[in-house]
Amino acid sequence: MSEGEVFPVPAAWAKRAKMNAQAYEAAVARVETDPDGYWTDVAGRLDWIAPFTQVKDTSFHKHPFHIRWYADGVLNVSVNCLDRHLDTRGDQVAIIWESDEGTPWDNLTYRQLHAETCRMANVLKARGVQKGDRVTIYLPMIPQAAVAMLACARIGAVHSVIFGGFSPDSIAGRIQDCDSRIVITADEGLRGGKTVPLKRNVDEALEQCPGVTDVIVVRRTRADVPMKAGRDAFYSDLKQGVADTCEPEPMNAEDPLFILYTSGSTGKPKGVLHTTGGYLVWAAHTHELVFDYKPGEVFWCTADVGWVTGHSYVVYGPLANAATTVMFEGVPNYPTNSRFWEVIDKHKVNTFYTAPTAIRALMRDGDEPVLKTSRKSLRLLGTVGEPINPEAWLWYHRVVGDGRCPIVDTYWQTETGACLASPLPGATALKPGSCAKPLPGIKFELVDAEGQVLHGATSGNLVITDSWPGQMRSVYGDHQRFFDTYFSTYAGKYFTGDGCRRDEDGYYWITGRVDDVINVSGHRLGTAEIESALVSNENVAEAAVVGFPHDIKGQGVYCFVTLKADVVPTDILQAELKGWVRREIGPFAAPDVVQFAPGLPKTRSGKIMRRILRKIAENDLSNLGDISTLADPSVVDDLVKNRIGS
Ligand code: PRX
Repeated sequence: MSEGEVFPVPAAWAKRAKMNAQAYEAAVARVETDPDGYWTDVAGRLDWIAPFTQVKDTSFHKHPFHIRWYADGVLNVSVNCLDRHLDTRGDQVAIIWESDEGTPWDNLTYRQLHAETCRMANVLKARGVQKGDRVTIYLPMIPQAAVAMLACARIGAVHSVIFGGFSPDSIAGRIQDCDSRIVITADEGLRGGKTVPLKRNVDEALEQCPGVTDVIVVRRTRADVPMKAGRDAFYSDLKQGVADTCEPEPMNAEDPLFILYTSGSTGKPKGVLHTTGGYLVWAAHTHELVFDYKPGEVFWCTADVGWVTGHSYVVYGPLANAATTVMFEGVPNYPTNSRFWEVIDKHKVNTFYTAPTAIRALMRDGDEPVLKTSRKSLRLLGTVGEPINPEAWLWYHRVVGDGRCPIVDTYWQTETGACLASPLPGATALKPGSCAKPLPGIKFELVDAEGQVLHGATSGNLVITDSWPGQMRSVYGDHQRFFDTYFSTYAGKYFTGDGCRRDEDGYYWITGRVDDVINVSGHRLGTAEIESALVSNENVAEAAVVGFPHDIKGQGVYCFVTLKADVVPTDILQAELKGWVRREIGPFAAPDVVQFAPGLPKTRSGKIMRRILRKIAENDLSNLGDISTLADPSVVDDLVKNRIGS
């Protein structure tokens, strides 16, 4: 197989799929000629309490923080994900829970999930939670995480889910930013046989959050955890005798549904705000379109609900479509590196959706751990979160998918709610490493640094010229930051922050971030965040962090650190600083490399020249470019001499 090979749409797929090549072209054309009609039809998949009469009001020019979709419509997300399926699919499994240990596992039918959601909603109400209140959720991958999200949606509360890998400081920052006074957590998490001290992390975080009055603790491992009287309560106690029905709150389409914090190129993480109607329309529509989801199929997205992929493709998209969704608590290589494939066989998974980093790690172990499983139930594979190198794509296709399953390489962001671009299995020939074309209604453009629109086969910065229903509406509490981050670089256009190539067939190839955001194992990190963690250490005077290519993680974290004058650089201090970042942000942000540097390359005006640091970290030393404008060009010699090979 050559790298440039194209995989045509299998005939059977063109026949079975909801959207074939002609239908794709027709949809793209219809958005141009009849946008209101197209978007009205797309939204018709949901049950509306009061139908909308306005479709969109979305100028990126005038006031991008007044993006409105289906603005006068009224609906409830939990009703769309649960109640409306009860008559026909009440006894169908909604969530298959695959625990870290693998046994026992647990299935929740739609009826059970509905009852659990109502109970949790009633518990929240009893604790005083009202429409519009922010509820922080810091849970492992257990069904109660989905239940908690849906319970918030039921009563109109706004959830802010925090990934279980975040540190107490990161939790505290997020709680303070959205002024949340209630936290739902668990005693401990369990991943790959190791416990995660969730309640302890929350306790530590809450030392900085005096506004939190209630902590609800779900029992997972049943570990003995300290409980603060008057503040903490076990969910198992609170739900005793609580009704399993709860009247859903009628929500306006533009009422907030959730906040999800994500890293940017500057400052602290941003609270990406998504609203009710447009978000659910887009999550459900893309789940059906991209994965060609058909009723009765088993869908497994391996993402944690702490990230947007888990929100849209473990919980909201699949449940709105009455799917059976798999929720996996564990990791790909525990207890063995066949775990993913064994789970596929165990639960007869039809669609499997994961991150390139996991594929690369498993590929390293060879074919045998895959081939000893059947995987006959699989029909479609997907990837998300970072570019996939053709070698990993081809292995995924040939070995995992036995050469018969199309792969959808889905490109999107926390900000975009759900997929923006992807091949459609019944419509698009596949090119390994390309996310193919934008979905109907998504309008991509490539521009150069000055904003000139580039045509034909070319490379540039990826912008989007018109809104779609799942677009974020603002940065929570900071409209100006929303505008500055996304709409100020190129007037009237949403800037993704990604570089991209378009080939002669109009296929898009994302080349990675062009800002100071790095993508480590599919997790998005702001280099500024890691730098501010480093300089908060008493030994550090200054720090600059860049990404470098990493075989498994996609990008690794390379830190250049200048120590304070009297501090001696030692191996022990190097290890200590790695541990420091782990504790300050979370284990997934741990630096791969810490290089001590007596000075950083700066312009005469004091700006750090990251371009040079990136080249050094990448070991691309012949391309350092012009260093004559540096205040002190000699620092570069030292950086190069002491470069740490990775
Ligand atoms: O750089 C792109 C990369 O991940 C970024 C978004 O990260 P996050 O908000 O954490 O969301 C990840 C899951 C949707 C993007 O700006 N990215 C995401 N998917 C792809 C990708 N890069 C290349 N190919 C993809 N399929």
